[in-house]
Amino acid sequence: MGKRTVILGTQWGDEGKGKVVDLLTQNVAAVVRFQGGHNAGHTLIINDNKTILRLIPSGILHEGVMNLIGNGVVLSPEALIEEITELKVRGVPVEERLRISPVCNLVLPYHVAIDQAREKMRGEDAIGTTGRGIGPAYEDKVARRNLRAIDLFHPKQMADKLKTLADYHNFQLVNYYETSPIPFEQVHEQLIQMGEKITPLITDITVLLAEFYNQDDNILFEGAQGSLLDIDIGTYPYVTSSNTTAGAVACGTGFGPKYLDEILGVTKAYITRVGAGPFPTELQNEIGRYMAKKGKEFGSVTGRARRCGWFDVVLLRRSIQANSLTGLIITKLDVLDELETIRICTGYHHAGEILETLPFDSNVLKECEPIYEDLPGWQQSTYGLTDYKQLPDNARAYISRIEALAGLPIVMLSTGPQRQETIIL
Ligand code: GDP
Ligand code: IMO
Ligand code: MG
Repeated sequence: MGKRTVILGTQWGDEGKGKVVDLLTQNVAAVVRFQGGHNAGHTLIINDNKTILRLIPSGILHEGVMNLIGNGVVLSPEALIEEITELKVRGVPVEERLRISPVCNLVLPYHVAIDQAREKMRGEDAIGTTGRGIGPAYEDKVARRNLRAIDLFHPKQMADKLKTLADYHNFQLVNYYETSPIPFEQVHEQLIQMGEKITPLITDITVLLAEFYNQDDNILFEGAQGSLLDIDIGTYPYVTSSNTTAGAVACGTGFGPKYLDEILGVTKAYITRVGAGPFPTELQNEIGRYMAKKGKEFGSVTGRARRCGWFDVVLLRRSIQANSLTGLIITKLDVLDELETIRICTGYHHAGEILETLPFDSNVLKECEPIYEDLPGWQQSTYGLTDYKQLPDNARAYISRIEALAGLPIVMLSTGPQRQETIIL
């Protein structure tokens, strides 16, 4: 029986989705991205070779697997071509393995300029976006004025639409953000050139997915960002501009929700966050710095330092419900190896009350004080272990406690960045 599995992040991103998706890309017909854009950075390390994927799905290194970019993704032609070129230099036959939906909205230079100008204007209140133009591209999508991949086939029609967009955005750039306009001709010229490389990859991926389904093939859907960065369910306004939770699979690919069999949540053994926003269990101390150093917590896209903190079950509960998770995958267990005591946050103190549910109001979340359960650390190396029986007792106790609090099976443990450094349960 073929399985249709969703792999997504349960926290604020960078949970190790790329590693997991690459590992699970065995016997699958397709790996599919359904939302986000090149704000994502998914790291694969195979035989000490590092690949960081931004737009291209994490199945691209496997022969015989189709990698599909669904309509829910916002596509930067520039970033895509850069990524294709990088992979081709290393001998990956990208064009054979990659297909793009005709109705992906494009990320244009105007979106990037507005994203960056807006963050600058916000000053202290900046969201800490990746500056890749993701938010403004989704805004134009919802406003029904954006260019889509399909427009690359029709240069004349594209020029008309782009002219309107250019006038609109340049007006804002000059008059509101007091920065330089981007000439229409320049963007148009670039799009025509890039279009020639991209159009051969464009095909109706909804039809392809239906074919795979009818042949009873396995399909993996690869989430980007994390559930707490979801525009609706996440810690608004410190979120990204797409729905990152499981419901987005259907809208972002045209593959309906009833066709899905499993929804697995990738969860770090602690938590990190890049950019601004409330983070109750954040550790701005030696332990936080230890996690950052040991876990190499620097953004794969922007190089920014990630904030680190203890595992938080309140956040996890929201992710479990919002995604209807069927199982958990815990990553980066090895990062906790040296700690004497390990804490799990099970609730928050707020205004004299105990909260077990994540408050939707970011201002309330900012004031929440975590309630912790302390577990003894294992203080020995778990790095690279592949057998559950090899794990120290205290590491097993930590995993079991998370499993019990989550009420879900843990199906996989990751003990290192490489493909094989994994325990399958
Ligand atoms: P993604 O965005 O969810 O795909 O995650 P990123 O690739 O941005 O960040 C995860 C980082 O942790 C990458 O540098 C991975 O190579 C690394 N990583 C993944 N799993 C493990 C693990 O189990 N242990 C350690 N030490 N590193 C890991
Ligand atoms: P992966 O797929 C971690 C964060 C940004 C910022 C907020 C909004 O690698 O897990 P955006 O540029 O999307 O408008 O930024 O979302 N963010 C991520 N954080 N991992 C990611 O992707 C992220 N993509 C966006 O840091 O706080
Ligand atoms: Mg990442």
